[in-house]
Amino acid sequence: MPDYLSLANQLAPTLIAWRRDFHQHPELGFEEVRTAGIVAEHLRALGLEVVTGVGKTGVVGMIEGVGEGPVVLLRFDMDALPITEATGLPWASQRPGLMHACGHDGHTAIGMGVAQLLAQTRDQWPGVVKLLFQPAEEGLGGARATIRDGVLDSPAPDAAFALHLWNQLPLGQLVVQPGPLMAASDRFEIRILGRGGHGAIPEDTIDAVLVAAEAVNTLHHIISRNISPHATAVLSVGKLHAGDTFNVIAEQAEIEGTLRTFEPAVRERLIHRMEETLAGVTRAYGAHYTFEIKEDEYTPAVNNDPEMTDIAREAARTLLPEEQIIQITPIMVSEDMAEILNRVPGCYLLLGAEPEGGARGPHHNPRFDIHEDALPLAAALMSQIAVTYLLRGT
Ligand code: NI
Repeated sequence: MPDYLSLANQLAPTLIAWRRDFHQHPELGFEEVRTAGIVAEHLRALGLEVVTGVGKTGVVGMIEGVGEGPVVLLRFDMDALPITEATGLPWASQRPGLMHACGHDGHTAIGMGVAQLLAQTRDQWPGVVKLLFQPAEEGLGGARATIRDGVLDSPAPDAAFALHLWNQLPLGQLVVQPGPLMAASDRFEIRILGRGGHGAIPEDTIDAVLVAAEAVNTLHHIISRNISPHATAVLSVGKLHAGDTFNVIAEQAEIEGTLRTFEPAVRERLIHRMEETLAGVTRAYGAHYTFEIKEDEYTPAVNNDPEMTDIAREAARTLLPEEQIIQITPIMVSEDMAEILNRVPGCYLLLGAEPEGGARGPHHNPRFDIHEDALPLAAALMSQIAVTYLLRGT
């Protein structure tokens, strides 16, 4: 087994330079043209077989080791967010309104580092490593787009691993756990259809504002009254829009929100009860409604395969002290690596990357930042996991 930690530490200044460059030039999902271009150029320079345009802007690179062996997929996401950066850091975003506020700039740099470490040690392991630089993780369906474009075919991976830098955990702490880690996510859209009219003559109207307020209140009772306290679910309304002026009763209201669940049965129950609640509330007021779950924006829960989790843990133990390898309560944010883990056994990890002096902002916040010392550690870790898997698989 090559000493990936030393190799990665030698590469640290390069990893940091890559990350800062990506950070200064953030690109939204499916628009990662510059980022993907840099990745593809780097992979080609390493002598890898490269496919671009996978899932629109994704890049796949293949590294063959020595001799027959399994295929392992390592996935890194590349997209930024529509957030205006407020860190004031020298390498802050140069594109107004766009920011790498989730650390995917770091993930891309880590992936480029892993490509380099594995290419340079390819005579020491068997099989194939398939590197996926995935576009559009932030709720835009990037994983599914790459799957549609065949990233899980020819060769089909036997295992898949990915990692997220996590600035809410101390530097170097690593979450490795079997089973559920991150929740399934749904987006819903509701429209309340009333009858508008004069604010002074309510008896001739069906007030969409009042019905929407009642609907939002009642929807919040579903979790507490219809879902077992032993199950985990979230229903959040993030958008409520109705009316244009003060003295007109609104004809329509729009409600949008998100659901987070782990078990398909809980999700079904929640959606079913939402439908019944909306039907009942609107009927009481004589209003109508439409209710839509955006199936194309659904992300399943992240479930780690027990055997692949063991391999990831075994690899982590060679790089980190035992007390740094932890388990957490599953988190309700979602991650579209779940699409891949639903099809290929694998493991998703969270690596602590809390900046020095503490995080000034969590993920998706304008003050978000990471500790760059996590970059070489992550590159070593992903390399070590891939090779641990490949050596075991022969
Ligand atoms: Ni993220």
